[in-house]
Amino acid sequence: MKSFVAAAAFAWFTVANAGTVVWDGSFTPFSSPSDFDKWHVGTYQWYIHGSGPTSSYLNPGAAYKNPAVTREDKGLKLTVDSTSHWNGQTMMRTELIPQTSANLGTGQMYYHFSLKRESVNPPGTSEHQVMFFESHFTELKVGVGSDPTALSWCINGQPKWSTPFVAGTWYNFAYDINFSGNTVGLWASTGSNPLQRVMSNQSASTSTNSADWHVGVLRLGDSTTEDWYISGVYIESGSLTTSIGSGTVSTTSTQTTVSESTSTSTSTSTSRSTSTSTSTSTSSSTRTSSSSTSRSTSTSTSTSSASGPGQTLWGQCGGQNWTGPTTCAQGTCKYSNPWYSQCLN
Ligand SMILES: *[C@@H]1O[C@H](CO)[C@@H](O)[C@H](O)[C@H]1NC(C)=O
Ligand SMILES: *[C@@H]1O[C@H](CO)[C@@H](O)[C@H](O)[C@H]1NC(C)=O
Ligand SMILES: *[C@@H]1O[C@H](CO)[C@@H](O)[C@H](O)[C@H]1NC(C)=O
Repeated sequence: MKSFVAAAAFAWFTVANAGTVVWDGSFTPFSSPSDFDKWHVGTYQWYIHGSGPTSSYLNPGAAYKNPAVTREDKGLKLTVDSTSHWNGQTMMRTELIPQTSANLGTGQMYYHFSLKRESVNPPGTSEHQVMFFESHFTELKVGVGSDPTALSWCINGQPKWSTPFVAGTWYNFAYDINFSGNTVGLWASTGSNPLQRVMSNQSASTSTNSADWHVGVLRLGDSTTEDWYISGVYIESGSLTTSIGSGTVSTTSTQTTVSESTSTSTSTSTSRSTSTSTSTSTSSSTRTSSSSTSRSTSTSTSTSSASGPGQTLWGQCGGQNWTGPTTCAQGTCKYSNPWYSQCLN
């Protein structure tokens, strides 16, 4: 595993080379936790969380962003606690996913975000999946590898690179994803330093249905309260913006109140589709092996798990209505409850 050397010693005088923002996960539109409950209005869907009020899990605020990031005026304090069980699962989850009609899984894209922890309410050392895709082709983790407190970048659940996760330091990342070439690489920096490539492109089963990038944290153990700080979330196509805080980046995405969600799957494998709707609406989501479109009068959300030959370690491998993989590429499929089976060692 390679390790990270902070880029502070490097002075970069490159001209910002901005791509096109295809989805903007800025927290600027969110003034209070309850704004996330209107999830069909903003750029995020908010339904993967525990039973408490949203204020227990999500708090937007100026103090919670990387001060170097100038493209938004707020960041997010995201909390995982002992109540964060979603949908009867044993895992604890506080996750947002994109709400957009944009295709977030085509060509060359850069998934940007900054992460921080503090010494108060730090992450525990059980496995945590952070800023992950449902198929886990790439993600960050803590609680894995030789140093369970480190932040590790993974492909298919396997750590490839890590950095000590020091309290009070902002870690900036861009997942460098070529959806055409099926490769993913990593760019990283700390504070206000420009992103530098820390891992070259590696082969991975890159795919997303544009609603399965989980901006948040899924933890498999621990029961303490943990606070994570997230800011600077956006997805860029074309060329990479390496500067942190390059000022405004124009966005092509628009916010919708009536959403039409179109999912096109580049995968020929099975997928799962879960639809959630507000009480005043109905939504439907159907899938074929190639593509699907769902439309509802209010909102529709779909999260899919495209699968390879077998599910990755910790992934779902069974449960009521589960149509994803039922075998495990790693570990064994263990029954947890009628709704959930999971690949475990
Ligand atoms: C992405 O992969 C495709 C197919 O291998 C390749 O033609 C293209 O040049 C790659 N794009 C970038 C930006 O490397
Ligand atoms: C890796 O991806 C980048 C796009 O960020 C591309 O410019 C570069 O050519 C790729 N390198 C290799 C070795 O594929
Ligand atoms: C499975 O599908 C049935 C019929 O649509 C539904 O009533 C039930 O709630 C679903 N179960 C889960 C766990 O989603």
